[in-house]
Amino acid sequence: MTTPHTNSAYKITEHQYDMVVVGAGGAGLRATFGLAAKGLQTACISKVFPTRSHTVAAQGGISAALANMGEDDWRYHFFDTVKGSDWLGDQDAIEYMCREAIPAIIELEHYGVPFSRTEEGKIYQRPFGGMTTRYGEGPPAQRTCAAADRTGHAILHTLYQQSLAHDARFFIEYFALDLIMDEEGVCRGVIALDMAEGTIHVFRAHGVVLATGGYGRAYFSATSAHTCTGDGGGMALRAGLPLQDMEFVQFHPTGIYGAGCLITEGVRGEGGILRNAQGERFMERYAPSVKDLAPRDMVSRSMTIEIREGRGVGPNKDHIHLDLTHLDPKVIHERLPGIAETAKIFAGVDVEKQPIPVLPTVHYNMGGLQTNYHGEVVTLKDGNPDAVVPGLYSIGEAACVSVHGANRLGSNSLLDLVVFGRAVANRCAETIKPGQPHKRLASDALDRSLANLDKLRHAKGGTPTADIRLNMQRIMQNDAAVFRTGETLRQGVEKIRAAHDSFADVKVSDRSLVWNSDLIETLELQNLLAQAVVTMVSAENRKESRGAHAREDFPERDDAEWMKHTLCWIDDQGKTRIDYRPVHLNTQTDAVQPIPPKARKY
Ligand code: FUM
Repeated sequence: MTTPHTNSAYKITEHQYDMVVVGAGGAGLRATFGLAAKGLQTACISKVFPTRSHTVAAQGGISAALANMGEDDWRYHFFDTVKGSDWLGDQDAIEYMCREAIPAIIELEHYGVPFSRTEEGKIYQRPFGGMTTRYGEGPPAQRTCAAADRTGHAILHTLYQQSLAHDARFFIEYFALDLIMDEEGVCRGVIALDMAEGTIHVFRAHGVVLATGGYGRAYFSATSAHTCTGDGGGMALRAGLPLQDMEFVQFHPTGIYGAGCLITEGVRGEGGILRNAQGERFMERYAPSVKDLAPRDMVSRSMTIEIREGRGVGPNKDHIHLDLTHLDPKVIHERLPGIAETAKIFAGVDVEKQPIPVLPTVHYNMGGLQTNYHGEVVTLKDGNPDAVVPGLYSIGEAACVSVHGANRLGSNSLLDLVVFGRAVANRCAETIKPGQPHKRLASDALDRSLANLDKLRHAKGGTPTADIRLNMQRIMQNDAAVFRTGETLRQGVEKIRAAHDSFADVKVSDRSLVWNSDLIETLELQNLLAQAVVTMVSAENRKESRGAHAREDFPERDDAEWMKHTLCWIDDQGKTRIDYRPVHLNTQTDAVQPIPPKARKY
């Protein structure tokens, strides 16, 4: 460790590694020990203790066509994922993920994930939305491997245990401030703040993997933890990179009304039913073949229509009931103990006797840093839409591979974490030689980031961070909602730009460096605001309906004009720019044929 940097206000410590992973959720941990296992000196930095990362909250399961509970095939999984993505997913990457799902789950089992079991001792699998057999023509697939309804908890803890068995170094409660990019656009490392000591740490590396999760907290009501502030996306935007497909924000149909906590789709997989004020199983009208197990975008829209048309439940007719009262209590105790507890605490209901009040709630960001299926960040450069950004990688919800396209199928997210966490480790092992010397950093390499930190730490404006954040969250909730119109989006763009500008007046009260949560929340807000603007601008720009982006003024999908990925940049002044990348309609191998677009019916 050396301290070659001259900024006098901060104590700066330098570290040198082959690889640095930012984030210690499922994707970050899988990448960290995968890299270490390949002999690359690896550091993992995380703003929370690894087992507190948001993966811990994932409930229903992880998809893989194991066929433990009936007919299945990874090629059906491929078909369902392409269709679920509303033909915005890159089919080469989807092929990779669905094929690799099977060995990835077996690997997790061998690592020790305590999956629920069938009578024969196989991994238990439940049905999830949009997962079918025989290329959509057969019955629903039981494809989602579950550890009761605490699958994320089981996986995250197992991955952390595996990480401890490898020679990786963890820097816990370090907040990543910025990427270190050189004049040639190569990522050379990351700069971070040790939140406990208030010291600055420069991590020089041949590769930086952003596994920082989504930015759900840009919204008022989200199933995401308060830590889901999209710090990787914020760093990428500040480094002059675009984010891809940010208009696609997933609303999970069953967040608890008011509290926003997740009630897993696994409830419907086990037989739970959505009912309106008349007690009607309304999904029969919207998705006659799969009903409550339609994909999330469709269920969320159907619920919203029911409420709008006056069939919502409660005194204000503003939510929907999720009914489990007909289920055998044994199923609830064995398969759904977590949500029974959550419903009791946050909705005050006994799920064996009363329905759970639910409402579509922001759950997942399909958009993020555009990558290929190796986890390498790519961008549009000199006419090449897939130009690799050297030294920069991204995986998990922070990334947009794009395997989820316009709408992610439930249980494909935990899968994405482990498949691409492993893929990035394999790629780096092929391309990075352990122990290579690091290129000299420019003398001003840290200046911009430290100046930003210093400015925010001493910000003397008139508007507290929490006020700007609440304003942003309300704008996003109202104007980038389940249904969107040109008018609401245009207003949304104006309002969210004003919220972004109001950050110039932010007031930070605590000037210290040790455990300054006021400062950290302000840095997080900066990351959220840039992504909120990019989301709203991208949504206003896309004049069609596809997956989770439902425009009432453009109700149809328009493949001729819009089968393309949006790229959106934002500069320091909040000025945005949009361009596009083509969707990959090719597959990697002949094992599957590309799925041509057609109407998406269930
Ligand atoms: O409903 C759930 O259990 C969530 C799963 C997912 O988002 O993949």
